[in-house]
Amino acid sequence: MSKSGLQIHRNFTFRTILLLFLTIIPNGETVGVNWGTMATHQLPPEKVVKMLQENGFLKLKLFEAEDRILEALIGTDIEVMLALPNSMLQIMSDDSKAAASWVDANVTAYTYHGGVNIKYVAVGNEPFLKSYNGTYLQLTLPALRNIQQALNDAGLGSKVKATIPFNADIYNSPDSNPVPSAGDFRPEVRDLTIEILHFLSINNAPFTVNIYPFLSLYGNDYFPIDFAFFGGTYKPIKDGDLTYTNVFDANFDTLVSALTKAGYPDMKIIVGEIGWPTDGDKHANIQDAKRFNQGLLRHALSGEGTPARVGVIDVYLFSLIDENAKSIEPGSFERHWGIFEFDGKPKYELDLSGTEQEKGLIAVEGVKYMDKKWCVLNPNVKDWEGLADNIDYACSLSDCTALEYGSSCNQLTAEGNASYAFNMYYQMNSQKRWNCEFSGLAMVTEQDPSYGNCQFPIMIDYNSSSSSFLDLLVAIFMGFVVFLCLE
Ligand SMILES: *[C@@H]1O[C@H](CO)[C@@H](O)[C@H](O)[C@H]1NC(C)=O
Ligand SMILES: *[C@@H]1O[C@H](CO)[C@@H](O)[C@H](O)[C@H]1NC(C)=O
Ligand SMILES: *[C@@H]1O[C@H](CO)[C@@H](O)[C@H](O)[C@H]1NC(C)=O
Repeated sequence: MSKSGLQIHRNFTFRTILLLFLTIIPNGETVGVNWGTMATHQLPPEKVVKMLQENGFLKLKLFEAEDRILEALIGTDIEVMLALPNSMLQIMSDDSKAAASWVDANVTAYTYHGGVNIKYVAVGNEPFLKSYNGTYLQLTLPALRNIQQALNDAGLGSKVKATIPFNADIYNSPDSNPVPSAGDFRPEVRDLTIEILHFLSINNAPFTVNIYPFLSLYGNDYFPIDFAFFGGTYKPIKDGDLTYTNVFDANFDTLVSALTKAGYPDMKIIVGEIGWPTDGDKHANIQDAKRFNQGLLRHALSGEGTPARVGVIDVYLFSLIDENAKSIEPGSFERHWGIFEFDGKPKYELDLSGTEQEKGLIAVEGVKYMDKKWCVLNPNVKDWEGLADNIDYACSLSDCTALEYGSSCNQLTAEGNASYAFNMYYQMNSQKRWNCEFSGLAMVTEQDPSYGNCQFPIMIDYNSSSSSFLDLLVAIFMGFVVFLCLE
């Protein structure tokens, strides 16, 4: 009796310890990250992949199946969500053979043992976004079907799932009852979305959504700032028995309500994009980005979940590296979402485990820069004829988002503005001598014109292959001219 009692006791302690252990490690979930490549000068993919590994990123989302990136990922454990862009939805929906060859070339080719760990294919990017005026509505589900079918036919169906990253504008709560529990899909897309949910569900695939608390704040001067962040002090919002202290939870649970009403209360949700920019708006700065992202990681990985759904939240930060060639139609902040600068330097400390130790991020190593040269307004030129036109020209072909209201270089004088514009044009065109002319207004200097928080960057020394090819042609041509002259 006493012996078996001891046995039970032992078993009990063992189980308790095991249980404790399992709850401490929250399903091994870690944070993912989006790696976009719309930049004039790209870091070599192998260097970026090494940095991802050194920082412990285990999940990556890509917007295109770029060979050079997929090749750099070969042999790593990094789990990949690979996207096909909206521009391909038409062909993927019309032609199952096109879907099969896309999967063949971009997924099957890499999913051998020791290859790339591709786990999801994202079909399109926010295809139901209101501002697309319905362009992709009828294409998205057929494309999803064809891609998943191609994955199944390739024998990858149980491992690789097709999903669709939606913008959070696909659901909302009525103005008359703006609480998460009243959430549902927008009436115009509701039926279609439910068909998609059905398809995702039978394939055991997740629902993917992009949620941007920054845009709530950007779009609305009356939005309570603390509600955009986590652990804020803003007066909580009551929804029945549930209490909301941040807009992320409220948004996420609006989706949970919509899924529940559609009959899929337990569907897995992936937050495909979420983050905070560091420049280009009054709310876009290092302190706020760090506050948001660190708060998000602590919250998402803790397992506490949202008021309506307990558990670790699967999130992919937007984004890895700044992209100086993105469209700024959404706002000047659009080129500044990176947690790393264009050259792979971390912008701020971020503890990716969410436990909030002051643990820094590791930079990309061995980055090559161009010479320490800047292009500025020549102080000896007294006649500024044509200055404004030259600034406009330089900015239209480079990146002057840091000059805008609320940005890091907004305090510059008119001369400073000119120098900033000239330098960005010069750097983004890889410091070619003839790109620092501007009708004689500009000159090259070796003195760093950076001022306080306002950085005048020097580009990294990795040209796009097309421009180095052009350089080669120019060099050959010049050689030929020299040859002719010598003759
Ligand atoms: C693979 O993906 C890339 C990038 O999306 C695309 O350009 C290419 O056409 C795809 N390959 C095939 C065979 O569809
Ligand atoms: C959607 O419609 C608006 C207003 O008619 C128009 O300005 C915009 O260019 C359209 N967008 C697309 C992607 O067709
Ligand atoms: C510098 O340029 C920015 C952006 O175009 C503008 O808002 C600002 O007023 C300019 N500053 C001066 C002193 O001209």
